[in-house]
Amino acid sequence: MTSTIEPQGAATATPRGTLRRPADLARNIDVSGLVDTEGGLLDRVVFTDQELYRQELRRVYAPSWLFLAHTDQFHKPGDFFTTYMGEDPVIVTLDRDRRIRAYLNSCRHRGARVCRADSGTTRNFTCTYHGWSYNLDGSVASVPNKDGYPESFESGQWGLVEVPHVESYRGLIFGTWNPEPIPLRESLGDMAWYMDAMLDHDDQGTVVVGGVHKWVLEGNWKLAAEQFATDWYHVNMSHASALMILSPAGKKPKDEVVHRTGRQYSDAHGNGAGFPVHPKNRFDAQTVHAWMDYDALRERLGDARVEGPLTNGHATVFPNFSYLPVNGSIRVWHPKGPDRMEVWAWTLVDKSMPEEVREAQRLYNLRTFGPSGVFEQDDGENWSEAQSPSHGFITNGVALNYQMGLGTEREDGRHPGRTSELYSDAAGRAFYGRWRELMNTPAWHEENHS
Ligand code: FES
Ligand SMILES: [Fe+2]
Repeated sequence: MTSTIEPQGAATATPRGTLRRPADLARNIDVSGLVDTEGGLLDRVVFTDQELYRQELRRVYAPSWLFLAHTDQFHKPGDFFTTYMGEDPVIVTLDRDRRIRAYLNSCRHRGARVCRADSGTTRNFTCTYHGWSYNLDGSVASVPNKDGYPESFESGQWGLVEVPHVESYRGLIFGTWNPEPIPLRESLGDMAWYMDAMLDHDDQGTVVVGGVHKWVLEGNWKLAAEQFATDWYHVNMSHASALMILSPAGKKPKDEVVHRTGRQYSDAHGNGAGFPVHPKNRFDAQTVHAWMDYDALRERLGDARVEGPLTNGHATVFPNFSYLPVNGSIRVWHPKGPDRMEVWAWTLVDKSMPEEVREAQRLYNLRTFGPSGVFEQDDGENWSEAQSPSHGFITNGVALNYQMGLGTEREDGRHPGRTSELYSDAAGRAFYGRWRELMNTPAWHEENHS
């Protein structure tokens, strides 16, 4: 038995010669018994085990659509942004035909990254180790001492490995290694309706302001992804002090703020979004609130979205892209081993916003959900706290509870797909249900893939 991972994409035709990787290097574990979506139970080993983590990279990350960047980060050919798909480093760039393409950021010679900058503009990508150089279309531009290689060496076979599918949805660029994925829009399904509440305020779409904030947290990436999919429950307790600071001086947060009614969307793809429902929902930053034309938004998006997912709320697009509509925070939870994640966060604003409104939203996002934001700090602390005890042998064997709202998911007639109450673990159960499904399904790079 062997398994091969054939690189994909136009830029690459890979000679494998006699290389054959033994399948034992990628043993797969049946995870059926680790996730009980019907009973609402989860085995903590999904957060701590190194072999399960490697399997996640192979079977959850490699076949899924993964967020790469925003289209506003690319304006002219050669503009690039470097990021990760799972733990694979990738370069996203605009080629000479103004097509967004993505490549594995690893030299075909000895594997060093060929681009070590976070972002910028370039004519080509030159490896700093021995100087192999690649064009914007991924092909080899030059190889020092090319005469030293045998005649059989064809530089056309040694281009950068290309991500075979890159698609965008309303400015959000996703890529997948899956050679035959279902189209991005289809994989989003009803989730797109909820995403549009943030991405489609008017015809001009969104842009990013400021750079990308990056920080490292101790904790498994799924803790963050599932919280953004399913967890309004923690707000009252975890963020109590922040809510008190943000409420009028000397007063406790209004009852309306801490006991909200709302809905939580979940689907079979593992996506989730929760939001309070109220006719007077508003943007938190005063300048942003004052600028918004809520009547026009009602006209465009409909009452259900303006009174729901337009403003406060949380969401995750499976597996590791999350966002917060109220402050325009979009983020990726990059996995860095079972115990660590790297958070990358952008601020998204409407392109139509004047400068002072953009700035107000940027600062509001920074103060609340920047790396030292009053809410972000609470959340990061929680994930590290939940992760750390799970390393104890006895602790690791004690199941976790995801039973809130069990069996209450339904079509509510106002929001697409299936929703439950705002305070619910429904999207968490769906998230781990999708995780279990992918973990138990051979991916395209495995021999027993059907
Ligand atoms: S590793 Fe890139 S040129 Fe050698
Ligand atoms: Fe939070």
